[in-house]
Amino acid sequence: MKAVLRASAPVLLIALAACGSDPAPEPTEQIIVREPGSDASDAAALQAADDTAASLVAAGKAAFNTCVACHVVEKGGANRIGPNLYGVIGRAAGSVDGFKYSDAMASSGITWTKEELDSYLANPAAKVPGTTMMAGAITDAGRRQAIIAYIEDASAN
Ligand code: HEC
Repeated sequence: MKAVLRASAPVLLIALAACGSDPAPEPTEQIIVREPGSDASDAAALQAADDTAASLVAAGKAAFNTCVACHVVEKGGANRIGPNLYGVIGRAAGSVDGFKYSDAMASSGITWTKEELDSYLANPAAKVPGTTMMAGAITDAGRRQAIIAYIEDASAN
């Protein structure tokens, strides 16, 4: 690892790009090149990271259009065909009051981390065999990441 750290910046970027399993890294994983002692460039870099996060959420909001027939992400929002997804990250699967889950979901033992959501959205029936969620599979990893960022952002309000 020391050898990689001593390598020039472009080589380091290539090395990280090559070993990352996630094709669209989260904004927090961005490499910010700092000019020593330059506050202005720090501020610009932080602003750029903010903009990236905001555009990811915006993309996720648009992509969530495939979910809105069945789900809202609103504090106190109604369950539709699917349960309210407000605050789903960190929540036990199958735990929204008043929603009639499949036995498969209710007994899945899953806690919805971002990683668990990602694999469920990639292939709901493979992740939870017997789930009654018959739509919403998202094959594109970047789209899943954006949708999850949107759900997280909407749950912070
Ligand atoms: C056709 C309706 C429908 C669509 C479209 C749909 N879902 Fe679902 N969703 C459901 C149903 C029904 C369940 C409950 C599944 C069960 O009990 O097995 C569910 C469950 C879930 C859960 C588990 C929630 C919990 O409380 O454990 C998540 C997360 C989820 N859906 C996310 C999504 C996302 C994100 C999309 C869009 C990409 C989506 N769903 C699209 C109907 C849908």
